[in-house]
Parts: sequence; C-alpha cells; structure tokens
Amino acid sequence: MSLADRKTLFHEMCSGPDCRMELLGSQGLIAVTSIHKLQGFDCYAGGPLTRLRYHANTFRIAAGERSLTPNGMMVPSRESSLEFNVLCREFYSIVAGLGIEDFVSCWNVPPNLRVKGDNPKAGGPRDTAHKHSDAWIGENPRCVTVMAFLSGCGPDNCVQFYEPSDAFQESWLEPKTYSDGKSLAEGEYSPLDYVPHDGDLVLADFSTIHCSHRKPGAGPRLGIDTTFGIKGPEQIASETSFVRKWRGQRATWDVVKGLGQTHLFVFPNRADEWVDCEGGRKQAVNCQVRRLV
Ligand SMILES: [Fe+2]
Repeated sequence: MSLADRKTLFHEMCSGPDCRMELLGSQGLIAVTSIHKLQGFDCYAGGPLTRLRYHANTFRIAAGERSLTPNGMMVPSRESSLEFNVLCREFYSIVAGLGIEDFVSCWNVPPNLRVKGDNPKAGGPRDTAHKHSDAWIGENPRCVTVMAFLSGCGPDNCVQFYEPSDAFQESWLEPKTYSDGKSLAEGEYSPLDYVPHDGDLVLADFSTIHCSHRKPGAGPRLGIDTTFGIKGPEQIASETSFVRKWRGQRATWDVVKGLGQTHLFVFPNRADEWVDCEGGRKQAVNCQVRRLV
C-alpha cells in the first residue's frame, strides 16, 4: 500500500463527522485528541480521564508490582481479571467516542496497561526506548497504534513519534529487530514536534515509528496502549484470516463493546506463573475471549 493511500485512509478515518482528532506533522499519519472530549461509559462520578485513572490504578493494585514486564506492562492474571475487564470496558467505551468504528476491522487484545517508571527489569533488545514500528514485532502492517496517556506524562517521561519520508515502502514494515531497524529509523524518519500530555489520546498509522522517552529520576507514567486493524485494501479479513501470522488474540467491536455483558477476557494463568513472550513477538499474557450469553 502506498504512503499516499495510507494517508488518504487515515485522514478519512480522522475526519468523520463524529471524530474530533487533530492531524499532526507534515504527513498527517498521527492524530491526537483529548480524552476529556470523549464521553465514555458514564456510571461513576468524574470525567472520563478520572474514571480511566481510577480503574487503571485499581487494576494495578490487583495485579501487583511482580506482574510488571521489562517494558512496563502490567500482566493481567486470574487474580486480577475482574479489575482488568472493568478497565477495558471503560477504555473501549471512551475510544468508541472517537467515531471510528466503521474503519476498524478488529482489535488486537488485550490492551496493555503500562507503567513507565524505575524498572529494574528494563532493557534488552525489544526495549520500547528504541525507535520502532509495532509492525516490527510481527504485527500486521495494516494496523494503527492507539495510546492513551493517563498520568505522569510530560517532556521528561513520554513517547516520541516520528513520521516517514516520502520514500516510504511497505517493506520497511517487515518484521525486524529494533537494532536492524535503527539505520532506517535514523535515515528515513523525522521527529514530530509534539509532546503528549496527560489526557491525550493518540492514533498512529503503522508507517510511523515511536519510542518511549524517560529522563532518569522522572516520576512514573501510566498509559494504555493497543492496536487495531484498519479497514481498506489488504485489511485483516477476520479473526482467523490475516496477512501475517500473529500469536495474539483478535476481537471485533461487538466483543470489546460487550465486555462484562456479552463477553469477557479470561486469563488462565495465575499471577505467579511465567508466560513466554517468545522474545517479544507476543504479549507476555495468555488471553481468552469468552462469550457470556
Ligand atoms: Fe510500540
């Protein structure tokens, strides 16, 4: 798919009548809005950002610090499954306020709750501090990254985004190690003049790259990140048919909108069980999507 086609599709998604995203950069392949503008599932007092923070911290306490991966993901388990499902229900209800449903072919689940603070496990070849596209870990290149910045975000602890040059080719998105992608990232990508802040919700086409940035001593940053398949040419056709093999789980809008009512994320592993992330090619979690009714 050409860069021009990617831009056309991304602009179309972000310019719908109900979508209040602002396109960033010269390519317009990254867009931002404020969680404050999105309604969400209104069963608790406070705005949507307050509710997301509340549920994120409730899950974080239930999961415990031992469930933190080297990249700061809090791994849901059998013990923290209720709190995680409630958090996800709130997250997807807020994302539904973007009005992008017609452009989503599937969600890659579960989403990640990440804590980016002092982490003795941090480091390694798949450290998110290295510039990367989420396609490089083997995800389908017809996807979009979603990031919700909940707390602790600012110039000293944030995510930096980069957009591709006009020479972009789909082959740039083939799976590779972050060190193999380094020369591509430094030669063909330009930094975006944007620093995310608490309450920002960002969509980024997979042709862009990003990295986490944290200065030593900066406080912890809390956020949710995930990806979805975007409709259009070469889209991910269904949960079982897609261009590239992916070891994670897919879910439709109906599934994520029905969490707690018609569907549930189930985690068979206990918190003290180790789940193989296969060198970073899959999430360090086993998630099953169960139908309730
Ligand atoms: Fe990433």
